[in-house]
Amino acid sequence: MHEEKVKRLAALKKSAENGGGDERIEAQHSKGKLTARERIALLLDEGSFVEIDKYVTHRGDDPTVQKFYGDGAVTGFGTVNGRQIFVFAYDFTVLGGSLGEMTSKKITKVMDHAMKVGCPIVGIIDSGGARIQEGVNSLDGYGDIFFRNTMASGVIPQITASIGPCAGGAVYSPAMTDFVVMVENIGQMFVTGPEVVKEVLSQEVSFEELGGARAHGSKSGVAHFVAKNEYDCFDKIKKLLSFIPQNNAEEPPMMAELTDDPNRVDPNLINMLPENPYQQYDMKEIIKSVVDNGDFFEVHELFAENVLVGFARMGGRTVGIIANQPMYLAGALDINSSNKAARFIRFCDSFNIPIVTLVDTPGYLPGTDQEHNGIIRHGSKLLYAYCEATVPKITCIIGKAYGGAYIAMGSKNLRADVNYAWPNAEIAVLGPEAAVTIIHRKELKNAPDAPAMKKKLAKDYRDKFANPYLAAERGIIDVVIDPMETRPMIIRALEALANKKEARPWKKHGNINL
Ligand code: HXC
Repeated sequence: MHEEKVKRLAALKKSAENGGGDERIEAQHSKGKLTARERIALLLDEGSFVEIDKYVTHRGDDPTVQKFYGDGAVTGFGTVNGRQIFVFAYDFTVLGGSLGEMTSKKITKVMDHAMKVGCPIVGIIDSGGARIQEGVNSLDGYGDIFFRNTMASGVIPQITASIGPCAGGAVYSPAMTDFVVMVENIGQMFVTGPEVVKEVLSQEVSFEELGGARAHGSKSGVAHFVAKNEYDCFDKIKKLLSFIPQNNAEEPPMMAELTDDPNRVDPNLINMLPENPYQQYDMKEIIKSVVDNGDFFEVHELFAENVLVGFARMGGRTVGIIANQPMYLAGALDINSSNKAARFIRFCDSFNIPIVTLVDTPGYLPGTDQEHNGIIRHGSKLLYAYCEATVPKITCIIGKAYGGAYIAMGSKNLRADVNYAWPNAEIAVLGPEAAVTIIHRKELKNAPDAPAMKKKLAKDYRDKFANPYLAAERGIIDVVIDPMETRPMIIRALEALANKKEARPWKKHGNINL
């Protein structure tokens, strides 16, 4: 008798784990995609996955819609490198991973668990969006998910892997999570697909061009990471999780033992900065020199490359790095880079991750394109994000820091805690050439040799203003440091600030200038 019941369970389990059946699993594999269960197995520690709601089906209101166990999603919990997470994966082999009423109940159940426990939730998306046959019930289900995404924002880390078509409602939930990883040639996200685009706008566009990983990784910024394949995708998620805490009440994990000397100096660092301030150089080289083991885990690598953001460790502690990248737009701040940096700062602040800012920027990017698309609105988000953040904030100016961009990049009065500058730092309202053109316009107009005069005036200006010492005289720069000591000086500041507590006035929430 007992044996019969156990046998029945085994048969049910086998049937449920076969998703939409052998044929559809084969079709999934033939598209170069793994199944929902194979994906979860790649993400979690071996043997740690506990699947819940395996036998859920839709209510059967529409008899033409076949019932499958699981109803289009595999959900449950397990560990990543020994740390608890909750997970859901849309199962494309079941009704195209479309979201019905019961699918949404399964997903919201694991989201609720993750919130109560205080641990990350990872969503793996491969879905045709709202299940057409379930009408408003499925739309309602998305509403439930969006509400939970919002409640969880800033409380537990939410991470999305986009590995397949993600249409309609299946894109808005990922957009509300903290990080989206898209897999090249497989992940596609769009509110309306190419067919609708053709119908409405008479435009021919492929799935990949419209909403592929490259498009969202480099143009829209929806994807924070572009993975080469599914294995790379889950490796990236595991690495990301290793830097961040389980929830907003915990500190990020500290390395059990130091793997790089906190007092390591780099005499070559100064040579990475070209003598000519208008020559390009790669800020990533400077970041790699100062962080533990040269390991910089870059976020949004392909999007708004004029600013760099990402995680690293310094003295074993997780830090969020924000830096101008002189290789692109000379490191000027524009709309996309302001949005990118502001969002990253807000993630770090939500999850107790100190912020290290490295500055070399000529200013905000001028021009009608930027003005008309809202650089004022978007650029000021960066100011807002730095002001709002109460985690330890350490800023080091290594090159140019002009005008509004000087203020925006973690300056003292945005409440940075420790502000360093290299002796090469140039802190002023405008760059020398632009400044002398304005303040010496009349003299230059009447000068017999205007270019020579301009050169001399610019040199005088640089000597007088474009250095860190005026700022150091006012205490706006705390220490002018020898470049080779950048790493140990930042680590000492991080240690000094480890117990920092800073309050902000009570409010329901701020009204960030979206
Ligand atoms: C029900 C769906 C479905 C859906 C796919 N299927 N999408 N079933 N509702 N939304 C089913 C198909 O009938 C098929 O069933 C199986 O899933 C696989 O679909 P295919 O079309 O054969 O696969 P493929 O060629 O790979 O194309 C995948 C796709 C396409 C690009 C996702 O299916 C598609 O365009 N689907 C519709 C997308 C959409 O417009 N969704 C509604 C969004 S509106 P069988 O039985 O053959 O396996 C929305 C509202 C929420 O989400 C908005 C909130 C803000």
